[in-house]
Amino acid sequence: MVLFLFLQWLLIGFLLIIFFSCILIRIVRRYRKFPIPAMFTSLIDNPLRRLIVQKPSTVAAQAYLKPGMAVVEIGPGKGSYTIEFAKHVLPDGKVFAVDISEKVIERLRHRIIQEEIPNIVVKIDNAHAFSFGDESVDRVIAIASLPEIPDPVKVLREIWRILKPDGLVSLSELAPDPDYPRRKTEKRWAKEAGFELHSEFGNWLVYQLNFKKAKNLP
Ligand SMILES: C[S@@+](CC[C@H](N)C(=O)[O-])C[C@H]1O[C@@H](n2cnc3c(N)ncnc32)[C@H](O)[C@@H]1O
Repeated sequence: MVLFLFLQWLLIGFLLIIFFSCILIRIVRRYRKFPIPAMFTSLIDNPLRRLIVQKPSTVAAQAYLKPGMAVVEIGPGKGSYTIEFAKHVLPDGKVFAVDISEKVIERLRHRIIQEEIPNIVVKIDNAHAFSFGDESVDRVIAIASLPEIPDPVKVLREIWRILKPDGLVSLSELAPDPDYPRRKTEKRWAKEAGFELHSEFGNWLVYQLNFKKAKNLP
C-alpha cells in the first residue's frame, strides 16, 4: 500500500515536472526561437509516440503519398517518419530530408547508409530559402517542425514556390510540443501564404492538416 502511494506520487510529480517544463520552454520560445538540439529530437521520436500517438504509417497515408512522388520532409529528426515515407514512394519516388542542423543531418545520413535505404536524400537546407526548383515536388511534410522555425509564413511561401500545382503540404503537430500551434493558427499562416485547406485529421492531442495551392491568391 505504502509502495503504491509512493509510486502514485512519483508519477504525479513526474507529470507535473513535464507539464511545468513545457510551459516554461513555451514562454522562453515565444521570445526567442532556435532549432532544438539534435539530442532532444531523440526524446520526441520515442516508441510510445510511434506506436500509439502518431504512427508513421498513418502520417504517410494521411499525406496521400503514392509511388513515384518527390517528397520533401522538413526537420526529419531521427528519421522514423522519413523511412516510412520512403517506402510509400517506391520504386522510383524520392524523399528529400532537409534540416538546418548539421548534427541531425549527419545522424540521419549514418542511419540511411547503415539501413541501406536507396531513395532518401539527406541534405542541409534552410526552409526559409530552399534549394529546390520552382514547382518541383509533389509533397512537403513537416512534423512538429514548422512552428519551431522563426517565420512560418515565409516558410509556407517557399513551400508554395517548390510545390507542383497539384501538390500538397502536410503539417502535423503534437500537443506536448512547446511550439505547438492551434489548428486555427496554422490555417491562418497557410492562408496568408496562398494555400487552402485540402483535408484534416486528428484530435486534441495530435492533428494533421493538408493544404493545396489556393485558386485565388490573397
Ligand atoms: C522538433 S524537430 C523535428 C522533429 C521530427 N520531425 C519528429 O517529429 O520527430 C524540428 C527540426 O526542425 C529543424 N529546423 C529548425 N529551423 C529550421 C530551418 N530554418 N530549416 C530547416 N530545418 C529547420 C531543427 O533543426 C529540428 O531538427
